[in-house]
Amino acid sequence: MEHLIEIRDLRKIYAIGEEPVAALDGVSLTIENGEFVAIMGASGSGKSTMLNILGCLDTPTSGSYLLDGIEVARRSRSELARIRNQKLGFVFQNFNLLARTTAIENVELPDFYLGRLGRSARRARARALLERVGLGGRGTHTPAQLSGGQQQRVAIARALMNEPPVLFADEPTGNLDTKSSIEIMNLFTELSNEGITIVMVTHEDDIAAYAKRHLVMRDGHLIKDDGGRGATALPVGISAGGAA
Ligand SMILES: Nc1ncnc2c1ncn2[C@@H]1O[C@H](COP(=O)(O)OP(=O)(O)O)[C@@H](O)[C@H]1O
Ligand SMILES: [Mg+2]
Repeated sequence: MEHLIEIRDLRKIYAIGEEPVAALDGVSLTIENGEFVAIMGASGSGKSTMLNILGCLDTPTSGSYLLDGIEVARRSRSELARIRNQKLGFVFQNFNLLARTTAIENVELPDFYLGRLGRSARRARARALLERVGLGGRGTHTPAQLSGGQQQRVAIARALMNEPPVLFADEPTGNLDTKSSIEIMNLFTELSNEGITIVMVTHEDDIAAYAKRHLVMRDGHLIKDDGGRGATALPVGISAGGAA
């Protein structure tokens, strides 16, 4: 069977200072269509590096990465950009919305680049997506006129614009209060139930608990993978601060 994501012996070496840093030190893993995966671990353990490579935002130093059966480990920047635009959605801790641009225009942006829809179909889809995330009345608001939780919902609508089969999220609730965090995670749960694959980085146990499968990283290694058998309860000892 073909996996949605298959990485083999992935390494990412940063050689900035005197000592090279192995942000990823030989990680192998498969993720299937429809999974809801949390990548956990302490700060500096390699979570973002892993997510950025899985999301084709960055390339590994060595190792292989098959996305939907296609080798993407050594593609050019422009090829990766095309793959991202067609297949992947992103949600970041800082929302990454364009500041002087309305909510609806932010949501439209991925199709503006892809050019799959005409102008009016694009507007209609963006409007429907804003409705979908509970922001139907806020299309003309700019990010500064929205709360953090609302900005993140705009970012999720934007991530869904091109109907990607996979959604990547890096600490999506990292800048949100508890109430907004729960709303965002309930939205992720709904999307997961609709069949979208979600790969989410978090260092918080209560956020990771929304995922069905839990990976734990330490020092560039994958040290735990419950394979989705953890349901919503995390095994005792898997914690953000210091994975056991
Ligand atoms: N662009 C970079 N240049 C140099 N070192 C980096 C860079 N990005 C990450 N690192 C290093 O790689 C390791 C893993 O970082 P990261 O993937 O951001 O971890 P996490 O997201 O788990 O906090 C850390 O030691 C970090 O300092
Ligand atoms: Mg990080």
